[in-house]
Amino acid sequence: MVEEPMTAITNEVLRRLSGVSGTRAGTISEALVRHLHAFILEVRPSTVEWEQAIRFLTEVGARCTPERQEFILLSDTLGVSTLVDAMNYTPGEEGTESTVLGPFYLSDPPVVANGAVIDGGCLGTPLLVEGTLTDVEGHPLSGVQVDTWQADGDGFYDVQHDGGVRYLRARLESDANGNFRFWSIVPSPYPIPDDGPVGAMLREQGRHPYRPAHVHFRFAHPNIATLVTHIFLAGDPYLDSDAVFGVKDSLIEELDSCSPEEAPEGHQPGRTFARLRRTFVLIPAGYELA
Ligand SMILES: [Fe+2]
Repeated sequence: MVEEPMTAITNEVLRRLSGVSGTRAGTISEALVRHLHAFILEVRPSTVEWEQAIRFLTEVGARCTPERQEFILLSDTLGVSTLVDAMNYTPGEEGTESTVLGPFYLSDPPVVANGAVIDGGCLGTPLLVEGTLTDVEGHPLSGVQVDTWQADGDGFYDVQHDGGVRYLRARLESDANGNFRFWSIVPSPYPIPDDGPVGAMLREQGRHPYRPAHVHFRFAHPNIATLVTHIFLAGDPYLDSDAVFGVKDSLIEELDSCSPEEAPEGHQPGRTFARLRRTFVLIPAGYELA
């Protein structure tokens, strides 16, 4: 039987991969070729459209800098980051759910003490974040590295401004009772950077670029599975249409409205402030791969 020309092309590419068949590289390469060829056969791009596709990916790469990762935005806005996360972090019934890292994480944030003010002088309603870390049996977890980061009142992260000043991001450590605490400002919803090729893609797809207001967290310790997550604010208009598919119901919290006298010792905002209280349940290292 003579193969259809298009089937023959796919089969020939797969045949050339037979030398690595059964290896991880082989499995990935074979699946990539099968799915990519099936995509092309379904979409049937013209040569002009294929040139546009190549140009799009070229532009995505060209927009990447140490401060901006357009490929992460592409992965996020196509739901791929959430899919990868869902397969790799499985907290079970007890553990706090994870969500996407996003493009604005820095691995070397300013190290601060518990109770620090990290608002960098940004305008906004003061927000007291009080977290508690426990294991799945409710025992407090001390000495856990806590990274947090969030947007300012205008919807921008520090790394999106020139100057290299770091604010609304910090690294601290849970205390002997598993608690951590810091002062920031109430975050607002923000658009992901949409002045590049990913923004153009969203417009072409009839989608908005907004993310509901949130605070990012990353918890790390040798004995626990690293948890990357957010806390979203209840009532946000974008909870049902997050541009990067990161919202999970269990990660939505109401803020308490507090009078100035309710501020704990250490920092007095001198005005009404908001408080976010949340317990995060962390699972043992290795458990997420079970
Ligand atoms: Fe964010």
